[in-house]
Amino acid sequence: MTYESFTLNEMSPACGGIIEGIDLSQDLTNRQFDEIHDALLDRTVIVFRDQHITPDQQVALARRFGEPQPAAVSGFEKSAENPEVDILEYDADNPPHVTRDLWHTDFVGTERPTLGTVLYAKDIPPEGGDTIWVSTAAAYEALSERMKAHLDGLWAFHNSYQPYDEHVRPEMYEDEKGTDYIKSRRATYRPALHPMVRTHPVTGKQGLFVNESMTSLIKDMDKRESDFLLRYLFDYLRTPEFNYRHRWQTNDLAIWDNRLSLHYALFDYTDHRLMHRIVIQGDVPY
Ligand SMILES: [Fe+2]
Repeated sequence: MTYESFTLNEMSPACGGIIEGIDLSQDLTNRQFDEIHDALLDRTVIVFRDQHITPDQQVALARRFGEPQPAAVSGFEKSAENPEVDILEYDADNPPHVTRDLWHTDFVGTERPTLGTVLYAKDIPPEGGDTIWVSTAAAYEALSERMKAHLDGLWAFHNSYQPYDEHVRPEMYEDEKGTDYIKSRRATYRPALHPMVRTHPVTGKQGLFVNESMTSLIKDMDKRESDFLLRYLFDYLRTPEFNYRHRWQTNDLAIWDNRLSLHYALFDYTDHRLMHRIVIQGDVPY
């Protein structure tokens, strides 16, 4: 695809595009926004280099795509002035746990998972801290017709709290405050039920809609059948041909479409890493 407002370098056949020629500190014209939106739909994840914007400007940018969505399970600090902005910050005193992240789609355990995410890199360590995205549309497309037919019409439960179980995240339960908070949120929570093959509401493309972080059980299947099939799909989604791995630079701003993607944040650094994240409310998957 070519664009009039900017140039876009495609980063892998499956997904990923780096955009040059847009300054996000200036108001976007409708033309520019429409082309950025087209690029997002085409590439699933787009990155703008060397952006210098305020939290208000990041919120305004996110609002062009939809309504910001408050975090379903908090574990992230919020910006005091802009409650839409999650502060994702780690350093040597508060290091991320290697192997802690799992492939996921943001807030998939809710009835209306996110449309997308706007992530702004405020400070990036000299090495480590990459993010990998998977195009679940590329993954679905490459399945055999027999497997596609098998998955057609299947639904699965997505549990927001599965990655926050006490045996997975013991540190969240270390004090009474944390334990009470999680327990009170869990008490009224019910896992969300979504189709395993999701249709993108704008492009009509289909993609696998399961992830190892939160997808817990296939509806109407025996647990062992469900585990077996889900394990296969989680493994299949790790196929490198479906992904793009981004080496961040400070002042990168990424936008991705959560409707047909998974991502994984590498926790392989101890130097300071600070990101400002806004997630955008999506619709009910079908
Ligand atoms: Fe995420």
